[in-house]
Amino acid sequence: MATKVDEVAARWEQQQREIAAMLDQLKPPDDWKLLPADPNYKYPLVRYYRYRGTVLSNFPLLWGFLESWKRFQARPKDVIVASFPKSGTTWLQELVWRVVHGETSVNSGGGATLEYRFPLLDEPYADIMKMTPIHDMEDPRLIKTHLPYDLLPPSVHTGNAKVLYVSRDPRDVCVSYYHFFRMINYAEYRGTFQEFRDSFVRGEVMYAPYREHVQGYLRHADTVLCVTYEQLHADRAAVVRRVAAFLERPVTDAEAESIARHTSFEAMKENPGTNYRHWEKTGMVNVGSEVTFMRKGQVGDWKNYFTEEEGAAFLKWAKQPV
Ligand code: PPS
Repeated sequence: MATKVDEVAARWEQQQREIAAMLDQLKPPDDWKLLPADPNYKYPLVRYYRYRGTVLSNFPLLWGFLESWKRFQARPKDVIVASFPKSGTTWLQELVWRVVHGETSVNSGGGATLEYRFPLLDEPYADIMKMTPIHDMEDPRLIKTHLPYDLLPPSVHTGNAKVLYVSRDPRDVCVSYYHFFRMINYAEYRGTFQEFRDSFVRGEVMYAPYREHVQGYLRHADTVLCVTYEQLHADRAAVVRRVAAFLERPVTDAEAESIARHTSFEAMKENPGTNYRHWEKTGMVNVGSEVTFMRKGQVGDWKNYFTEEEGAAFLKWAKQPV
């Protein structure tokens, strides 16, 4: 039986041409300031803009981000997982999904991938992905976003939605992000790690500036549940319990242990509902890419990319209050 992934894959080449034509015609609003093109991104149609301080690409515009953002009405049962990209979003999403659905078996969501179970607010690509638009989803809606706190639709702050934020050692974020952009076919980053790291610090990568992003959420830690990638590594069952208490969906110790087990790196790398291997089929990832979405899943991989001094300086920069 053909799955939604098969359907998306079958249409991909045609969609690539359609997207290219649409992007060529796109007229961004005045408050979207075009950033200089970075020649290290191979895909020439993706351009980056600064919108209200944050770097976004033309994809959100193409998929009606502004209309969708205005229309979004948070509901009290909404659960929103927010992050700067590559901070452990997928990890926390799967954990949250299991807590909300009381799922303690190896299976998650009948094999549906996270894009369908936990869609991205920022790029309303429901049509292209053949999925239910966020506005039409039933409660409880589980929603992913990389938008900074101040760019969340206002009703999120007033409508009692539950917001969780995950952050990670910024050096590991930068390394993971670099590999992501090398892997993903709409970017095909070809620069060196040093070049990428410099553009990260200059605030020119998607969803930058980094420090404002993290500090913007941590400033609201009284209402936002803030967890870290390193905590997920150190004691996942404890994070499951914190999440469950925050979402008012209590779990037993046995359930917490079971959810922790099924959200290990190895388990999620095996699980087609979480490992994003379907991207190889839909054309999102370059065939022959040396890395996959579930790349290493480690704390401290930065040591393979920074010297000790560079690492210390980068961390100091990242922690500086803005
Ligand atoms: S995204 O695209 O922004 O949503 O990416 P995100 O999910 O935030 O980050 C991807 C990185 O998280 C790692 N990951 C995990 N690590 C450990 N355990 C589990 N279960 C897990 N799930 C995802 C993933 O491997 C990416 O990190 P790197 O360092 O690249 O391996």
